[in-house]
Amino acid sequence: MTLFLTEFLRNPLTVGAIAPSGTALAERITAPVPRTGAPVVVELGPGTGAFTDHIDRLLGHHGRQVAVEVNARFVHRLSRRYPQVDVRQADAVDLGDLGLPAADAVISGLPWAVFSARRQERILDAVAALLADGGTFTTFAYLHAAWTPPGRRLRAALEARFEEVVPSRTVWSNLPPAFVYHARRPVRCLSASGESVEPVGEQQRRAAVGSA
Ligand SMILES: C[S@@+](CC[C@H](N)C(=O)[O-])C[C@H]1O[C@@H](n2cnc3c(N)ncnc32)[C@H](O)[C@@H]1O
Repeated sequence: MTLFLTEFLRNPLTVGAIAPSGTALAERITAPVPRTGAPVVVELGPGTGAFTDHIDRLLGHHGRQVAVEVNARFVHRLSRRYPQVDVRQADAVDLGDLGLPAADAVISGLPWAVFSARRQERILDAVAALLADGGTFTTFAYLHAAWTPPGRRLRAALEARFEEVVPSRTVWSNLPPAFVYHARRPVRCLSASGESVEPVGEQQRRAAVGSA
């Protein structure tokens, strides 16, 4: 908690909240993590690990857990606390350059409300490209910010990129109250001839399997 508040005071526009998310929100946002097999789960903006911890427990050391965080102090803390997690210090905008395999779940703690429209779109494009077929993207929004221009932009940008976008019920116990968007089925690009083209993430997964 102390590190989180300190970092908020140092970088309010990237940390975007004065306290980590609570347990109820962590449970809601990590619900799509597959419990079996060897899934790839990518977390964006883990901060001090409010969601990281839940993902780790749900995976139970199966599969691969990646955390992408821009703040060096958070990266340091996460790397020490979760040596089994592949923690990357990077901007989520560069998600597509990290050489990650297609993800079964992408879970975001990013502060969308402080991002420009362009930044929101670039990150969501990278997420949609990384998701495997059948993969799920979850992200949260604070209730009080959902109807502000950045909040409305986020929802519109999600709906432009995913066939299904479902907001959860409000988690009132979170401070401040928040809800989760569950986004599935990234909209596929069309080739020049109008044929459906699979997302880049799926192409990368096939290439990796083919070369293994
Ligand atoms: C609102 S905090 C959420 C932290 C944690 N997920 C939680 O819910 O308690 C936002 C986090 O996103 C990180 N962040 C902000 N912009 C980012 C970016 N462009 N790429 C990666 N991480 C970013 C911040 O450093 C911070 O850790």
